[in-house]
Amino acid sequence: MRKKIVAGNWKCNTTIQEGIELAKSVNDLVLSKGAKDVVVVLGTPFTHLYSVNEVIDNSRIHSAAQNCAAEAKGAFTGEVSVSMVKSTGASYVILGHSERREYYHETSESLNKKLALTLEQGLTPIYCCGEALAVREAETQNQFVKQQLDETIFNLTEDQLEKIVIAYEPIWAIGTGKTASTQQAQDMLAFIRGLIATKYSDAVAQKISILYGGSCSASNANDLFSQPDIDGGLIGGASLKSEDFLAIINAY
Ligand code: PGA
Repeated sequence: MRKKIVAGNWKCNTTIQEGIELAKSVNDLVLSKGAKDVVVVLGTPFTHLYSVNEVIDNSRIHSAAQNCAAEAKGAFTGEVSVSMVKSTGASYVILGHSERREYYHETSESLNKKLALTLEQGLTPIYCCGEALAVREAETQNQFVKQQLDETIFNLTEDQLEKIVIAYEPIWAIGTGKTASTQQAQDMLAFIRGLIATKYSDAVAQKISILYGGSCSASNANDLFSQPDIDGGLIGGASLKSEDFLAIINAY
């Protein structure tokens, strides 16, 4: 049985004080009304991780960094290493988000280093992939995503791959209010699972949680999550309001 996961990605939003309030509110709602079989993750800014972990019940809710350094430690001013992230109590790291690839020139090479460091420290990478609108319009999204995976997570051993979570986020659907149709999302997630089955084995493919992200909301989550290959969501905007986030968690 694959894990169902709903992960919030707060991006560059909230002060620490606001983030603590949001985390407390999510925590209260999840503990009192949240679906028990859904793994809940809060992807907060680095600065918030320690404080957020102080106010959430770690047996029900986990926290994630949104990035990490490509080096273990040393003279890399401004970077935050995976061991620092781990020391806050966080257990997930979002890697390869399209905003990081686009604005901060994240490459497959740096992502491979980050994946290795994250796995070494025993944290779970949530590895993001997804195509831009022009790629979708040219109907080459499958080749594009396959290449992103071939260059990164498909270099991992079977044991390593089984420890990661994949998030497919078409760039044209992120923050635009334009969700991929349920069929488009299902088709891509089934395609990714098929690639894993071919490259590794069907048993491995059946174990890995693959999430959809991109304008996922309380109103479309139910439809999306009813699909056989969609194991949850990576949620941006709607994770900033605890009631909306809870509705997505309970959309299964
Ligand atoms: P969105 O963001 O839900 O606001 O579209 C998703 C993401 O970027 O992870």
